[in-house]
Amino acid sequence: MPAKGASFVTSVVVIGGGVIGLSVAWRAAQRGLRVTVADPAPGQGASHAAAGMLTPVGEAAHGETDLLRLGLDSLARFPAFTTELTALTSQPTGFRETGTLQVGYDADDLAILSELRALQEAMNVPVQQLSGRECRMLEPMLDPAIRGGLLVAGDGSVDPRLLTRALLAAARQVGVTLVTQATAEVITRDGRAGGIRLADGTEISADWVVLAAGWNSAGIAGLPAGTAPQVRPVKGQILRLRGNPAQPLLARSVRGIVRGSCVYLVPREDGELVIGATQEELGPDSRVTAGGVWELLRDARTLLPGITELEFAEASAGLRPGTPDNAPILGPSPLPGLVLATGHFRSGILLAPATADIIAEYLATQRLPAIAGQFAVTRFSGQDGQHGQDRQHGQDRQHGPDGVQP
Ligand code: GLY
Repeated sequence: MPAKGASFVTSVVVIGGGVIGLSVAWRAAQRGLRVTVADPAPGQGASHAAAGMLTPVGEAAHGETDLLRLGLDSLARFPAFTTELTALTSQPTGFRETGTLQVGYDADDLAILSELRALQEAMNVPVQQLSGRECRMLEPMLDPAIRGGLLVAGDGSVDPRLLTRALLAAARQVGVTLVTQATAEVITRDGRAGGIRLADGTEISADWVVLAAGWNSAGIAGLPAGTAPQVRPVKGQILRLRGNPAQPLLARSVRGIVRGSCVYLVPREDGELVIGATQEELGPDSRVTAGGVWELLRDARTLLPGITELEFAEASAGLRPGTPDNAPILGPSPLPGLVLATGHFRSGILLAPATADIIAEYLATQRLPAIAGQFAVTRFSGQDGQHGQDRQHGQDRQHGPDGVQP
């Protein structure tokens, strides 16, 4: 930690110590770069609220094939990523490869699932179509009214709070400096980002500034006009119930569509059951509301009546960083020296391993891996002449619990 008001030099300063910022810092330090992360409360933003479901198809909407490809790529990196983290730090991450069961409650909900199946098949994601009875053979505690579902055996889940703790330990172990202060502004010198100024006035000079501040990325001071990424907060309320680890209600994550609204339930080995999440466009409002909690419990109980027996442990809310097309912004920005790793919206946990490798590669070599090509910030200004995908605009999505996003 630098002395107050002092200045120090690093090769890379990462603004934001959530799962994305810490993953980038860890991987960049492994590439031999001197890395500093600045965050007043590392891991306490969207990463703290997240459920950690790793389900690329479930998070992508129709037409979002580039995002889906990136999600599948990142999911494939998860086993090695978490194994390496645990080997280095002896910290668990809660990573499980138990798959996802996507269920439809009524006939209309089942019709939404069949569209999802088409997307899965188009992307060669192995998926098995199941009747309601077959769903209950896999998950006997599901409500008998459920009409059918899809089993995606390749999906997984991770505990984002454990993951953050392991990433913090791993980053420290490879020499990353953690500064628990807010960033007051990005410093520019001769038309290039040259570091940051912290809230207490301390200057950190750096060759590269990585902006990984989640929904706050748009509000960072000091950036020339037009260079701040377009990111907005999208609130998600989420619940945590505590059950008996010896008698889990679910063996795998369940995403359900209940009369048009989507809810997910993610079981953990310690008996916790996470229920998420609302999707609300209310600006930087992170209050938990009675209506949000009620809607989540209503839909979760419709799918899994046994939740009423579990202890209510926590209700929280996080702010996802949404972009105009719901896909992340990865790579260089119009301001030389400023690198963007932000806007991951609903997929920050899933996309952490791929993002870390992409950004570390860029910082070390100034080359961007091909898979990142569709996620340049220039897509919003039309500078690259391609908009990539026929994505829904985030603001147009249905609100309420998770929209109807299958
Ligand atoms: N990734 C799940 C959510 O954003 O709610």
